[in-house]
Amino acid sequence: MKKPERNDPCWCGSGKKYKKCHADFDEKIDHFRRLGCEVPTREMIKTPEQIEGIRESGKINIAVLDYVAQHIGAGMSTEDIDRLVHSKTLELGAIPAPLNYEGFPKSVCTSVNDQVCHGIPDESVILQEGDIINVDVSTIYKGYFSDSSRMFCIGQVSPEAKRLVEVAKECVEKGLEQVKPWGFLGDMGQAVHDHAKANGCTVVEEIGGHGVGLEFHEDPFVSYVTRRGEEMLMVPGMVFTIEPMVNAGDADVVMMEDDDWIVYTADGSLSAQWEVTVAVTETGYQILAY
Ligand code: MF3
Ligand code: CO
Repeated sequence: MKKPERNDPCWCGSGKKYKKCHADFDEKIDHFRRLGCEVPTREMIKTPEQIEGIRESGKINIAVLDYVAQHIGAGMSTEDIDRLVHSKTLELGAIPAPLNYEGFPKSVCTSVNDQVCHGIPDESVILQEGDIINVDVSTIYKGYFSDSSRMFCIGQVSPEAKRLVEVAKECVEKGLEQVKPWGFLGDMGQAVHDHAKANGCTVVEEIGGHGVGLEFHEDPFVSYVTRRGEEMLMVPGMVFTIEPMVNAGDADVVMMEDDDWIVYTADGSLSAQWEVTVAVTETGYQILAY
């Protein structure tokens, strides 16, 4: 990428001279590039203004999930959850990002038990006592995207299901602890899969997190089956999701022939997932949606 001259305005749009703004930052990234590290492109680095926009979107995402948390329960269909998400999102002045996204037919993903992700809300899927469900909400507000998901236990669930849900949440927390500038996405990925493994669980390889903010899914792809010191360099201004899919059994996943979306565990074991949208800051990280 072409660099401005030192007295030119900075590429970030701050209006400051390049030498007083991102010159040192670019130099640091070049240093890592010369070492052979994968480094982010400028498109992956958000301005403070853009991060505020994503944060506002994230506040709505959180409010919608809080609303779901207040109402979800046995006897409700996943279609009912779709209605809750759709109406609450519109009431808050935003748009549900999943609706019509690459043909996705609903406003939210609802993945029950052995469904790993991208579950499609359905009138005939009725939540039963003992089910675990991931509700994955994504919001567009004033052009900014946010994305987060939570697990819900319906009534009393088995100790194994309860533990899986906890482990999946802990995996996200372990990953977050590793988010800091000038570290690597692999530091986060390794922390996630080490914790899953230590608890007898596996992490899905084929599907992962992503950059987010100006689009629903941006680069980079964020894997959790990665190693410390590898994958992309994390720099201030990057915004991405941490959303490992944690299985009680094997890591393998399958899709059914009759739809293009819902992903299941291959062995029928339970799967759980929590998702955050996180921004890398000068000192560590900030959660923009949870
Ligand atoms: N919300 C999912 C994610 O975490 C993506 C869902 S795509 C959809 O990335 F079309 F199914 F909504
Ligand atoms: Co996501």
